[in-house]
Amino acid sequence: MHDVYIRNMEIADYDLVIDLWKSTEGIGLSEADSKENIRFFLERNHGFSLVALKGNKLVGAVLAGHDGRRGYLHHLAVRREHRKEGLGRRLADGCLEKLKLAGIDKCHIFVFRENSVGKEFWSKIGWLIRGDLHIMSKHI
Ligand SMILES: CC(C)(COP(=O)(O)OP(=O)(O)OC[C@H]1O[C@@H](n2cnc3c(N)ncnc32)[C@H](O)[C@@H]1OP(=O)(O)O)[C@@H](O)C(=O)NCCC(=O)NCCS
Repeated sequence: MHDVYIRNMEIADYDLVIDLWKSTEGIGLSEADSKENIRFFLERNHGFSLVALKGNKLVGAVLAGHDGRRGYLHHLAVRREHRKEGLGRRLADGCLEKLKLAGIDKCHIFVFRENSVGKEFWSKIGWLIRGDLHIMSKHI
């Protein structure tokens, strides 16, 4: 049996990663997740995003990056049959370690209001829900 191991996400992982995200509830995909956009994201944020593999099977993934002042995680997903094994925590904390080493001391995530699994998970691993903020967005 293979242990799950975690390594940096590369653009070559895109097809497996997008399949995982597409089949995972609570992940909101858009044109921002095209291969070209993810390539751009990984280039601008080199070495922060992670994948979890068991043998050659992708079992988890997360995007991470920063804008110079705050960090952001996106699209954390663990394959259903590997949940509650500590992988979500390992992926999220792995990104935070990398962000911290890059001088970032606070990180934000976006969670759908109805994603109770996500909210329970993030709360359990120490994240606080911000009741004082709304997300506001605009197409440009
Ligand atoms: C959220 C998700 C990534 C968690 O992954 P996971 O590998 O199962 O999480 P972990 O095993 O690392 O769990 C870490 C802690 O959270 C708790 N937890 C995980 N899922 C939970 C749930 N559904 N309800 C309550 N607690 C939960 C675990 O019990 C664990 O706590 P413990 O250390 O006290 O035992 C996974 O459920 C998932 O992919 N969900 C769908 C996608 C999603 O919603 N992602 C978040 C987008 S913002």
